[in-house]
Amino acid sequence: MAADLLKGSRRIAPSILSADFSRLGEQIAEVMEAGARVIHVDVMDGHFVPPITIGPLVVDSIASQVHEAGGLLDVHLMIEQPERQVAEFARAGADSITLHWEATPHVHHALGAVREAGCGAGLALNPATPPAVVSGVAELIDVALCMTVNPGWGGQPFIASSPAKVAALRELLPPETAIEVDGGVDVETAPRCSEAGASLFVAGSAVFGAPDPAEAYRRLVEAAGPSRAALG
Ligand code: DX5
Ligand code: ZN
Repeated sequence: MAADLLKGSRRIAPSILSADFSRLGEQIAEVMEAGARVIHVDVMDGHFVPPITIGPLVVDSIASQVHEAGGLLDVHLMIEQPERQVAEFARAGADSITLHWEATPHVHHALGAVREAGCGAGLALNPATPPAVVSGVAELIDVALCMTVNPGWGGQPFIASSPAKVAALRELLPPETAIEVDGGVDVETAPRCSEAGASLFVAGSAVFGAPDPAEAYRRLVEAAGPSRAALG
């Protein structure tokens, strides 16, 4: 089950936002051959965040490749009213769907819809959103995504106060809820997030912006440290 792959061990989730879309399949194969099992997909609508990126069509076109290699698709919706799109992304092959606290007045309903669609449910928080908001929906989420940059663009600098927020989330959530960090994650910042309690590390430019994405992926795995399971 998708949600199980998100839990337990520390994982680097390469974000295809920074991939070369003219050879997307090849780029995904490179990181999956190096061991990646969580592929992060950034969906932006031009409203919640200014850029427009990709939709269910692209999720559908990479789903069998990722699933056949034993991986899962971690879909991060940076869109308004995400509840309207959940079923479509689930049909396209999403394994987990993360929506933003700030994107809908119906967070509880939207997270329920994600689980009902058979996907792992994630809740993302923008940098200015206090960690305490997760309290009301703790039983509904498999993943809490702490934005460590403002959403919308790859390649931004990591917000230095983020590890403290990760630690606060770790305190608020049950141990089985994974904490994901997203934005500015590299070999310097990953260990700080790891120490604070993060177990999923999204990396876009640090992987696909590197001359050798497979090698960059392996360096990040090393930087993030051993699996939580291995630590006991
Ligand atoms: C930003 C996206 C990120 C993005 C991260 O809004 O949610 O997933 O791909 O890119 P890097 O790792 O380059 O900061
Ligand atoms: Zn993302």
